[in-house]
Amino acid sequence: MVIRVEEAADWPAVNAIYEAAFGQLIEADLVRHMHHDGDLILSLTAYADKPAGHIAFSHLALHETPSVKGSVLAPLAVAPEFQKQGVGSTLVRQGLERLTADGYDLVVVLGDPNYYGRFGFTPQLARSLKTPYDGPYLQALALSEKGKEAHGPVSYARAFAELK
Ligand SMILES: CC(C)(COP(=O)(O)OP(=O)(O)OC[C@H]1O[C@@H](n2cnc3c(N)ncnc32)[C@H](O)[C@@H]1OP(=O)(O)O)[C@@H](O)C(=O)NCCC(=O)NCCS
Repeated sequence: MVIRVEEAADWPAVNAIYEAAFGQLIEADLVRHMHHDGDLILSLTAYADKPAGHIAFSHLALHETPSVKGSVLAPLAVAPEFQKQGVGSTLVRQGLERLTADGYDLVVVLGDPNYYGRFGFTPQLARSLKTPYDGPYLQALALSEKGKEAHGPVSYARAFAELK
């Protein structure tokens, strides 16, 4: 399978991917809401012969270490017919590469450590942070030495609070 990754606001594709993966549009609406609020850092869509997967990264504010440039990985989904073929991993890796190139220091994610551990995310680093999602599924990855110094309370994009 040939996967093409594009950075574009292809909303019909984003809707189709989240609808297929989750059977709902809450995650696609979250992406649109973050885009509208100016909180979206990066949105990547993977295409095979049709839209296959999507990932978003948004701003994370670190109140005690404000010089740390932080981001949140969420949401991520791959349409069922394209799962377990490397699409999700390609999106995560390309996203992390682009954030590193853009000078980001830290990425946090809420998800299964068995999945995100393969990209270097750990719950240990996340335990230094105070977030609305603290617990064993919260993981963090330092993209720079500065990222390892991240600690204290953080604020996610406003759209996350409106999910609850
Ligand atoms: C989770 C998801 C994004 C992974 O994308 P993908 O393209 O299927 O994943 P990849 O092909 O890159 O990687 C496949 C590997 O991830 C594992 N994996 C897939 N989904 C997983 C999950 N929810 N938890 C843990 N591991 C998972 C597979 O077992 C496989 O492991 P292996 O490499 O050891 O065989 C995708 O399956 C998906 O959208 N699932 C439904 C929505 C969902 O659960 N999203 C949660 C995101 S936190």
